[in-house]
Amino acid sequence: MQDAAWWEAKYQRGEDGWERGAPNPALLQWVDQGLLAPGAQVLVPGCGRGHEVVELAKRGFAVVGIDFAPSAVQALRARLAQEGLAAEVVESDLFAFQEGPFDAIYEQTCLCALDPARWTDYERWLFARLRPGGLLLALFMQTGAEGGPPFHCDLLAMRRLFAEERWEWPASPPLFSPHPSGRFELGFALRRKAAS
Ligand SMILES: C[S@@+](CC[C@H](N)C(=O)[O-])C[C@H]1O[C@@H](n2cnc3c(N)ncnc32)[C@H](O)[C@@H]1O
Repeated sequence: MQDAAWWEAKYQRGEDGWERGAPNPALLQWVDQGLLAPGAQVLVPGCGRGHEVVELAKRGFAVVGIDFAPSAVQALRARLAQEGLAAEVVESDLFAFQEGPFDAIYEQTCLCALDPARWTDYERWLFARLRPGGLLLALFMQTGAEGGPPFHCDLLAMRRLFAEERWEWPASPPLFSPHPSGRFELGFALRRKAAS
């Protein structure tokens, strides 16, 4: 089971192949396109060392990052303090975090880190954390492989998980976000519908 201890051990051993070392260019593109209103409240689940949390804080958004791996949380808090930036970093299992609603959620390598048996719970959790009309900026990891983490986020499965009754999918093609690991992510800005 990939619990907090499992992820913490990965950080301790330096097995952090997901680390980009910089904010994801897809996030920068979405922000530069003006998808987030000035000062928007943004939640980043499974934020890890949180390059995106730092970037969002720099740009004046009210950011909350959550992760249950203590060393990742400590590293992010230290970096925010060093750079004189304000963001809340919560050390918790994300499913225990019940605050919101937020204007937007930035989902990067958290869904693919969770066992697919928990994906329905995660979709419900995301939906409940967003205000109606809020945005889920989602990067769906493409591995083309069995097993995980990272678990392959097949787009047909994503269409079923983030169903049209609850999420408005964009008409535009996805953002392509290559990763140094050789894998890539496909980015979609999904809008939460009012219905639950
Ligand atoms: C693959 S890493 C990605 C980290 C970060 N999003 C990035 O791209 O650099 C997955 C992260 O999710 C965190 N995580 C996994 N399951 C979690 C849960 N149930 N609650 C909180 N954090 C979780 C792990 O501790 C880890 O930091």
